[in-house]
Amino acid sequence: MKDKDLINLLNQMTLDEKIGQMVQVAGDIFLEDTIDVSTGPLKNLGLSNEMLYNVGSILNVMGAERVKKVQDEYLSKSRLKIPLLFMDDVINGYKIAFPIPIAQGCSWNVETIKEMTKISAMESNIAGANVNFSPMVDLSRDARWGRVMESIEGEDPYLGQVYAKAMVEAYQGKDLSELGNIASCVKHIAAYGAVEAGRDYNTVDMSEREFRQYYLPSYKAAIESGAEMIMTSFNIVNGIPATINKWLIQDIIRNELNFKGIVISDYGAIEETIAHGASKDEKQAALNAINAGVDIEMMSSMYSNNLKELCLENKEIEEKVNESVLRILRLKNKLGLFENPYGNIDKQKEDIYIMNKDNLERAKKLTQETFVMLKNENNILPLDTNKKIALIGPYADNSAITGSWSMFSDRTKNKTILDMFKERMTNEKLLYSKGTEILREEKINEILRADGLPLIHVENEKEKEELSIKEAFETAKEAEIIILLLGEHYRQSGEACSRSNISLPENQIKLINELHRLNKPMIMILFNGRPLQLNNVADKFDGILEVWFPGTTGARAITEVLFGDVNPSGKLTMSFPQNAGQCPIYYNHYNTGRPLLRDFRYMSRYQDIPTESFYSFGYGLSYCNFKYENLKLDKNKMTEEDIITVTIDVENQSAYEGYEVIQLYIQDLFGSVVRPVKELKGFKKEFFKPFEKRQIKFEIDIEMLKFWNQDLEYIAEEGDFKVYVGGNSVNVLEETFKLNR
Ligand code: GLC
Repeated sequence: MKDKDLINLLNQMTLDEKIGQMVQVAGDIFLEDTIDVSTGPLKNLGLSNEMLYNVGSILNVMGAERVKKVQDEYLSKSRLKIPLLFMDDVINGYKIAFPIPIAQGCSWNVETIKEMTKISAMESNIAGANVNFSPMVDLSRDARWGRVMESIEGEDPYLGQVYAKAMVEAYQGKDLSELGNIASCVKHIAAYGAVEAGRDYNTVDMSEREFRQYYLPSYKAAIESGAEMIMTSFNIVNGIPATINKWLIQDIIRNELNFKGIVISDYGAIEETIAHGASKDEKQAALNAINAGVDIEMMSSMYSNNLKELCLENKEIEEKVNESVLRILRLKNKLGLFENPYGNIDKQKEDIYIMNKDNLERAKKLTQETFVMLKNENNILPLDTNKKIALIGPYADNSAITGSWSMFSDRTKNKTILDMFKERMTNEKLLYSKGTEILREEKINEILRADGLPLIHVENEKEKEELSIKEAFETAKEAEIIILLLGEHYRQSGEACSRSNISLPENQIKLINELHRLNKPMIMILFNGRPLQLNNVADKFDGILEVWFPGTTGARAITEVLFGDVNPSGKLTMSFPQNAGQCPIYYNHYNTGRPLLRDFRYMSRYQDIPTESFYSFGYGLSYCNFKYENLKLDKNKMTEEDIITVTIDVENQSAYEGYEVIQLYIQDLFGSVVRPVKELKGFKKEFFKPFEKRQIKFEIDIEMLKFWNQDLEYIAEEGDFKVYVGGNSVNVLEETFKLNR
């Protein structure tokens, strides 16, 4: 349809029909079998039947047949036949669950992330998705916050910008009506990752300068890449809930970033402005939200119950409603829904494409790039198949290795590590014992209770645990290498999963300590959705492989890396803290006036733990051994027109082939506001053949030196700078240069 036709359509709509377009409900409302996923407190919105058949979009209904059934049911009762939009949380894949976003970000490979995104988009588009609530680009520095698992960028705004662009373009393609393209909804605006104390939904308060320097860039990149929608976050931003924050939505998103797309609230977030104490009642919540510029209310009924009255009281409100509805109609039009209300659903394609062998093979390869090898002493890895190996732990024979947002994927169908090892090893060489549960009854019941699920009871839990650990000990006694597969429960990570203690649970630590008594080589494979405290266990292992929640193909992907078919290449995008007390912690921090340069009381430090992170941003090992030398700048002075060329020699000193992520950091040594000790400004993921040595080149331009000053100008200041290059953010070579204005 042409835009004028959309405007004509708008003019034919009654006020109820317009307001309906601004309401999003969970799909179960249309489906008696309510197997659909609710990702928030499911509640009766009290919608009239008439309003129900006016709503503009549906949340989390997927599957060609189900989508068609809902669309048919809806259109049969819709006067103007304006099709429903289907929006979903395909956060890391639909039926093929990919690694959780924090893991994807650890690949430091834009093409890999794009490919995972494209496969997810295709699978979900033929299953009925028009819009995906992704990418989540909330900068995340606090491992206590459960949603760090969703952050594609971890703690770095440069990665956030690069990844946001890649994902939005991969989701949307050139033409939204084309098969495999879905609209991207970037979230959560804004600064949701900065919730105080890592407690979900908690307060966010920071200077505008801090916000612009660290948190805004990735949202900006997503919007500039054409994201069709943005989602407002649950938290307040400097005293006002993001969802009704005019400065945020109007001044920054609409006016400064020139965003023309749709603003959707998060789940019930308009109603929650009452609980925040920012809206007196439901009517004011609706007024605040429409005045701030929220186009669609997700899963609460402030708009459906109050907007009509507000419009009748004030014509200007109806003008805002008209603008919102036109934005919604425009997106439906871009998706081609007026010509074909079913979008690209296709039952036949679903049967052929979804979970097909080629995609699963691709998914496995892509997944392997997300693993981070944190330790590999005495070259315990890759494994020697002639050795007798014991697989021990709750994740040895466990298929629940997909993240908490993988609700469309069937976890029970995943292979386990034990399955995969059996494919490669004979019985006399392969031993297995579960050793312990992921969590004890008390902790599992915390999860089940929060999900309203029936609680479990374990008779004589303590005795059973001791017996199980003893059995594991006896099993491991026969082995030459012990592989411990441990970590978090997938429902300990994700939304509403903040934790004050990020150590492995007591029972798993008990198992580690018991097996360590055998004094045999031990390897830990870690399944988790956040950086964990490892300073109390890491020294007991010769090898540690961080696999996060690796998804559908995880077991095979991990096994091939462990046996050396594939060389791990991942690098951390979030610092691993010494413990929760050190959170938030991030590499691009300020120096303070008392950096810990010597062992002296009156320095910026803790009395009980080291100041630096346990594993640093950008860190990750390979089976290769990479040597960095000859860092050179082609000039040591630059003006704003100049480019400095940086070169460094990187040598693979091993017989393995593999990838290395060469990272470029810059430090502004002195500024009108303090500047971070280093900031990532470039990276290259390069393949090296055995014993290959190559010169790697970067360029530094004035844009890389700019920052937000006290007057909120984005400028570069003359003075001295340092360049750091290395395979992580700590072990680096350095050079200096001057910027002269
Ligand atoms: C949830 C999440 C958001 C998700 C939305 C729809 O509460 O905060 O990320 O997209 O609701 O499920």
